[in-house]
Amino acid sequence: MSKTDQDRLLQSARLASAGAYSPYSKFRVGSAVLDAAGNIHAGCNVENASYGLTSCAERNALAAAMAAGQHELSAILIYVPGKRLFEPCGACRQVMFELMPGTAPVWSVSDIDRRCWTVADLLPEPFEPRLDPTLTGVS
Ligand code: THU
Repeated sequence: MSKTDQDRLLQSARLASAGAYSPYSKFRVGSAVLDAAGNIHAGCNVENASYGLTSCAERNALAAAMAAGQHELSAILIYVPGKRLFEPCGACRQVMFELMPGTAPVWSVSDIDRRCWTVADLLPEPFEPRLDPTLTGVS
């Protein structure tokens, strides 16, 4: 993945983080996904007074890519302002596993640091019924 694409992802995730709706946690998460055609799709966390309805930035960015008709995704980046690096939650890891190749890079970026895993690093033993058509009807 090129440095230019990394920079584009970060710029887009930063912008999305500024749009986060997080009055409860005050935690502003931005995420950006790069698709195979080179487009970028952003998302932020959106909270709700019924806390369990909160949706994470990563899943919102992935949903934006799907909505744009881009089902071939090559990288995702998560940005949270401040010094600490954050890891994506378990639910987001499972959704990344479904929608991205295991080799796809997952970047976490703060204002002073960055780190990269692959989707497979983050979810080594995923739930994958889609491999069993008797359960899902999908082959
Ligand atoms: N959050 C994300 O957006 N992504 C994650 O991977 C973990 C958590 C959000 C959800 C909630 O709005 C806030 O961060 C605190 O949990």
